[in-house]
Amino acid sequence: MTTLDADAPDLEYAGRTPYVRYTESDVLHDLIHPQTTEPLEVTFVVATQIMELHFNLLIHELERAIDRLNGDDLPEALAALQRCVVTQNSLISSWELLSVMSAMQYNRFRSSLGKASGFQSFSYRQLEFLLGAKDAHMLSPHTGMPAVHARLQAAFDAPSIYDATLALLSRRGLPVPDPVLSRDVREHWVEPDAGVVEVWRQVYQREDELTTLADTLTAVAERHSTWRFVHYTAVRRILGAKPGTGGSAGLAWLKRSADTPVFVDLWEVRSVL
Ligand code: HEM
Repeated sequence: MTTLDADAPDLEYAGRTPYVRYTESDVLHDLIHPQTTEPLEVTFVVATQIMELHFNLLIHELERAIDRLNGDDLPEALAALQRCVVTQNSLISSWELLSVMSAMQYNRFRSSLGKASGFQSFSYRQLEFLLGAKDAHMLSPHTGMPAVHARLQAAFDAPSIYDATLALLSRRGLPVPDPVLSRDVREHWVEPDAGVVEVWRQVYQREDELTTLADTLTAVAERHSTWRFVHYTAVRRILGAKPGTGGSAGLAWLKRSADTPVFVDLWEVRSVL
């Protein structure tokens, strides 16, 4: 019989170990229920769950960033946004898990999904609302879940991270146009605003912490577009132009969203720097 070193960890616990209690890993692992024998179905379920957890973390960081911008605490807002970028990098790399899935393998379990589609993901929707990509129609799928719907409605009605940023820039003396500051924050901001593009041009001349804010927001926007684009190409490879399980035109619908970046003025300003 081997003896344990004096510095070996504790090995005796009654009931769930402290690790399992803290991380709830037993609950987590009990959430994987493939409905076919196709091995890639497990990969698909786990990849989706991993991405959901990332959406949750991003919501948490963006809410903190908005709160800190509102409190004029730029260092903490920047720290939260930088954590968003790291989280997005990890989120995007999760697509690797599905890079090995073929159209035929997906077809073998697609019917398990029924009408389930990522476009019913309430955490992704909250993430989009926090980033300012607002669309009232996207609240509808969640009316049957009142707590979820209320949370989404609150995010829909509230200023996005971009609105909070422009308010801070205005408080710091930059010439953010009044109509922008008093705009209906439930509107999706799709077209660049000449006055806001000029504000960003001025921010880029300063080379200070506001310039870092501009670049960090751009990094967040870039990664959000990257997630959408990699999703689009994965769908193109696996599903082709067939309609989605959520009833959309599939590829065409995803392409439109991939082509519409968030924080559009920050993209526009590049041309005048
Ligand atoms: C085999 C892989 C996948 C295929 C073929 C696929 C297909 C689609 C399609 C066709 C749509 C458009 C809506 C519809 O009609 O269903 C969609 C939307 C969406 N999917 Fe996927 N998807 C895949 C993997 C994933 C994964 C792993 C996630 C992670 C959560 C995900 C999240 C989403 C989200 C959030 C939307 C809504 C996008 C938006 O509102 O702009 N998808 N997907």
